Amino acid sequence: MSDRYAVIGNPIAHSRSPSIHREFARATAQDIDYGRIEAPLDGFAQSVEAFRASGGRGLNVTLPFKHQAFSLCSRVSERARVARAVNTLVLETGFGDNTDGVGLTRDIGDNLGVSLQGRAVLLLGAGGAARGVVGALLEAGVARLLIANRTVSKAKDLAQRFAGATARGYDELGGERFDVIINATSAGLADEAPRVPSALFTETALAYDMVYGRETPFLAAARQAGARTCDGLGMLVEQAAESFFLWRGVRPQTRPVLDKLRGA
Ligand code: ATR
Repeated sequence: MSDRYAVIGNPIAHSRSPSIHREFARATAQDIDYGRIEAPLDGFAQSVEAFRASGGRGLNVTLPFKHQAFSLCSRVSERARVARAVNTLVLETGFGDNTDGVGLTRDIGDNLGVSLQGRAVLLLGAGGAARGVVGALLEAGVARLLIANRTVSKAKDLAQRFAGATARGYDELGGERFDVIINATSAGLADEAPRVPSALFTETALAYDMVYGRETPFLAAARQAGARTCDGLGMLVEQAAESFFLWRGVRPQTRPVLDKLRGA
C-alpha cells in the first residue's frame, strides 16, 4: 500500500496541495497517496490522531490549525519554535516543522530572481502567516525588516521577538521606500487590502501577496501603480517541496510544477 499523507485544514476543498504533492511523487517515483482532510474547528487533535492511527505518515497543516499543530508536537524544529506554528507533521515521530518561511524566501529568490540580501522589506500583517516568515526573511540577509499591521500593538509584539525587525502602523509609512512589500494579512481573502500609502508601490518594488490564485486588491493597487506583482502560488509550491523532502528525503524540482499550475 502507498504511504499516506494529507493536508488538513478548514476549509480545505480548494487546497492545491494534493495536486502539487502528486506531481512531486510522480516526478521522483515516490509511492505516496496524498489526500485532504477537513477537520472540525473543535476537532483538530482528534482528526490528526485518527489519521495517524489509520496509518497516515505525515500531514501538511493549514488555516486555522497551524498553532494547534505546534502545541500537539512532541518535538519541533527551531524555525517552528520561533514561528510558534507548524505546517508539516511527521506522524511517526511527533516532529513538527514550519516550511512556510523558506517557501517564501525561495520563491522570491529562486523563482522571481529577487535577492533579499541587503534589501529593505516591508511585511504587512502580524498574525500567524506573518509570524511564519519573519525568521526566514531575516536569515535571508535583508538590510531592514519593518513589520506593519492594522493593530499596531501586534506588530510591535512580533517585532520585539526578533533582533533586526521594527514595527509601525499603516499610517506611519509615508515617505518610506522598500524594495519588497509582502502582504501577509488575510485581507485579500475578504477582497480587501491593508490601507497602506500607494506611493509605496514604486516601479522598482516587488509587491508579493501570500494569498494565491487571485489578484487581491493589494496586488491590483500595486500593479496599477507600476510595481512588479506576484501571488503566493510559488510559496505554496516551495513550502510543499520542503515538506516533501522532510518526509521522503528526496527534493523534488519545483519549477515544472509551478509552470504547470500557472498554465492551468
Ligand atoms: P493569519 O494566520 O492568516 O495571519 P490571523 O492570525 O487571524 O490569520 O491574522 C490576520 C492578519 O491579517 C492580521 O495581521 C490582521 O490584522 P489585525 O491584527 O489588525 O486584525 C490582518 N487583516 C485581516 N483582515 C484585514 C483587513 N481587512 N485589513 C488589514 N489587515 C487585515
